[in-house]
Amino acid sequence: MKNIGAELRTSLQRALSKTSAEKVEVEILAKIASDQTKSEALLRSLRDNIQAASDEIELEDIRIEMLGKKGEISLLMKTLGGMSDDERKHVGPFLNKLRNGTTDAIAAKKAVLEDAALNARLASETVDVTLPARADEAGSIHPISQVTEELIAIFADMGFTVAEGPDIETDFYNFSALNIPADHPARQMQDTFYFHEGDDGERPVLRTHTSPVQIRTMMAGPPPYRIICPGRTYRCDSDQTHTPMFHQVEGLVIDKNIHMGHLKGTLENFARAFFEVENPVMRFRPSYFPFTEPSAEVDIGCSRDGDELILGEGDGWMEILGCGMVHPNVLRNCGIDPDEWQGFAFGIGIDRAAGLKYGMPDLRAYFDADMRWLKHYGFAPLDMPSRHGGLSR
Ligand code: PHE
Repeated sequence: MKNIGAELRTSLQRALSKTSAEKVEVEILAKIASDQTKSEALLRSLRDNIQAASDEIELEDIRIEMLGKKGEISLLMKTLGGMSDDERKHVGPFLNKLRNGTTDAIAAKKAVLEDAALNARLASETVDVTLPARADEAGSIHPISQVTEELIAIFADMGFTVAEGPDIETDFYNFSALNIPADHPARQMQDTFYFHEGDDGERPVLRTHTSPVQIRTMMAGPPPYRIICPGRTYRCDSDQTHTPMFHQVEGLVIDKNIHMGHLKGTLENFARAFFEVENPVMRFRPSYFPFTEPSAEVDIGCSRDGDELILGEGDGWMEILGCGMVHPNVLRNCGIDPDEWQGFAFGIGIDRAAGLKYGMPDLRAYFDADMRWLKHYGFAPLDMPSRHGGLSR
């Protein structure tokens, strides 16, 4: 590597026809500074040296030698303090130009070297994707992923499309727009994870349900809508039947003449397909949600045969979802005229539904990443659930 610091000094000296023994003094700097040809030649030679660096290590050495604490340019900058006002007026801008020119040239060269290093890596590191998977090492599909795919297949069959939204939400989408104002007791229904207050004075939240995706969908374009929104949701709660992160699928249908009969038919169709029973016994229990009116919670009939839970029949009840007709205030909040449009929404807990269907009593095990559990409850990786091919095999 060239000694670029010495070279700068030599260049300065050569520019002023000094011998190499002589130090670069203030008046030399001043002379160079006032001679444009010389100062530009100097900057050019500096740039050439930077250009010639062959790798990032060499470039970093140059940077330290020129711009480091004891670097050549830094030392020159320090001499500014001892100059007269007149000298400083001349030399200051020149040194600034020298420093900035050097900084820029180093940054540009760094980008080039990084690109080249990346390209070299891309060219040399290859993965043989044709290697066959060993049967005994094949993974399995997590029950949550499986059930999410099953739900998507069922609702896709009824004409629903999938919509998604962010996990980190604003108060507006998670609460206010859903007819849950700041002082509303319903806020306490959901144990919310809050972030620190941002610059805007707002505290973002981890969404407590997938209902904010309703709002995002309705605000993005005019009705009609027929969507489901599967995704992660969060509440500050942890026991055998609650995990702080869990999954929901929200459904929303808004059109001109949608009524509760459609809601009931849709959910019956869902239960029949999902629990794979011809005539599931269901019960709609009046309930309360701020964003629906009227609201209901839906239970599915069940019975026990020893250890086994039989779903869809019997005289026991298992709660599976919440639903209702979308509250006119929610439509208004999204700029939709409730006298023209109406519809229903529902929210299904995926983890709960999966637990019921596949007999997994402790929801905490879902997220323990225990291979033995996954091997036992997981699904074959290449079997995509579908209505025609079967949801679960
Ligand atoms: N968002 C509700 C919850 O998480 C569920 C729900 C969705 C209820 C849509 C009614 C309509 O508790």
